[in-house]
Amino acid sequence: MSVSAEPTSVDPRRNGSVPADTGTVRPDTLRPHAEHAFADELAALASQDDRPRPARWRLSPWAVATYLLGGTLPDGTVITPKYVGPRRVVEVAVTTLATDRALLLLGVPGTAKTWVSEHLAAALSGDSTLLVQGTAGTPEEAIRYGWNYARLLAHGPSRDALVPSPVMRAMAEGRTARVEELTRIPADVQDSLITILSEKTLPIPELGQEVQAVRGFNLIATANDRDRGVNELSSALRRRFNTVVLPLPESPEAEVDIVTRRVEQIGRSLDLPAVPDGVDEIRRVVTVFRELRDGVTADGRTKLKSPSGTLSTAEAISVVTGGLALAAHFGDGVLRAGDVAAGVLGAVVRDPAADRVVWQEYLETVVRERDGWSDFYRACREAGA
Ligand SMILES: Nc1ncnc2c1ncn2[C@@H]1O[C@H](COP(=O)(O)OP(=O)(O)O)[C@@H](O)[C@H]1O
Ligand SMILES: [Mg+2]
Repeated sequence: MSVSAEPTSVDPRRNGSVPADTGTVRPDTLRPHAEHAFADELAALASQDDRPRPARWRLSPWAVATYLLGGTLPDGTVITPKYVGPRRVVEVAVTTLATDRALLLLGVPGTAKTWVSEHLAAALSGDSTLLVQGTAGTPEEAIRYGWNYARLLAHGPSRDALVPSPVMRAMAEGRTARVEELTRIPADVQDSLITILSEKTLPIPELGQEVQAVRGFNLIATANDRDRGVNELSSALRRRFNTVVLPLPESPEAEVDIVTRRVEQIGRSLDLPAVPDGVDEIRRVVTVFRELRDGVTADGRTKLKSPSGTLSTAEAISVVTGGLALAAHFGDGVLRAGDVAAGVLGAVVRDPAADRVVWQEYLETVVRERDGWSDFYRACREAGA
């Protein structure tokens, strides 16, 4: 079996458990959903998984955790790790979804909250697309239901005129719903989740009806640590959730590993050169980001000022991907300091005044003095000129 993140041309309807409107996946889809990108792995897990599965789950909790963390199956099939982090975090997240409480993934930006949520939904329900994107403008209809006004005017209120939200569909079909950036949603709109999560029902007063959730329904929300205070979750709503905090990568090696893996996957889908030759550069980008984020050099000797933006793993991934594209199209195909310097600068200097001072100080006191970093120092100076 081939293990890859390449787009696949698997027909998701083949076993009838993915809704028909997901359609067939074109092989040139820019970013296939997790359930399509990893269809082979999910199928291998399902066929060899003999542990009990909660109602409507396509895998047992154990197999879902294996899908996320990676492993080797009895027949030798290799499951690639999607999430690199503490096993316990994943185990708690998965088991929460088998209970009557919903799951809240909390963490600073770029800690893979969205990524984990997508993969959990894909592994559990075979469908990660029942998604509500939370913003300050998210209306109640996005969580409950809306109306098709043409039908409403022509025939009056009826089930035909009703446009279900992704949450309503997940309730009716016993699947996993996802709400992204929950705390950005205005508090009164958030509260429409309370009845859904506590009573497991969604009343439709206009029709004198309700949609009752069937077994298998649950909800994964993500929220940003930094947004705290924007629209704090009401305590009534918070009680419906089990909160799991996704930590920043604990060691530089773990972070380099995450960046390398993801860049390889993204690079393959963009036909970029292979990463191995660029690992040194990845290590440098990760070192710079970690040091500035932590406010101290890796050896613990020099205190540093931190810039205003979050220098997350996700940001490191995009800096390196951008660098690989430069190397491929305008260099010799090998990732070098000159290919990542501009990206690093762009990620660090968000506020042109304050962050530039922070960066200059770091560049002159740390980067300049570091053994083997003179090419990086030069490239950064050129990029900043
Ligand atoms: N611990 C990790 N394991 C695997 N991938 C990670 C990890 N941390 C970050 N990433 C990668 O970072 C990228 C952005 O993560 P994302 O889910 O958008 O972050 P968040 O929603 O927390 O802001 C994803 O492509 C993901 O693969
Ligand atoms: Mg996110």
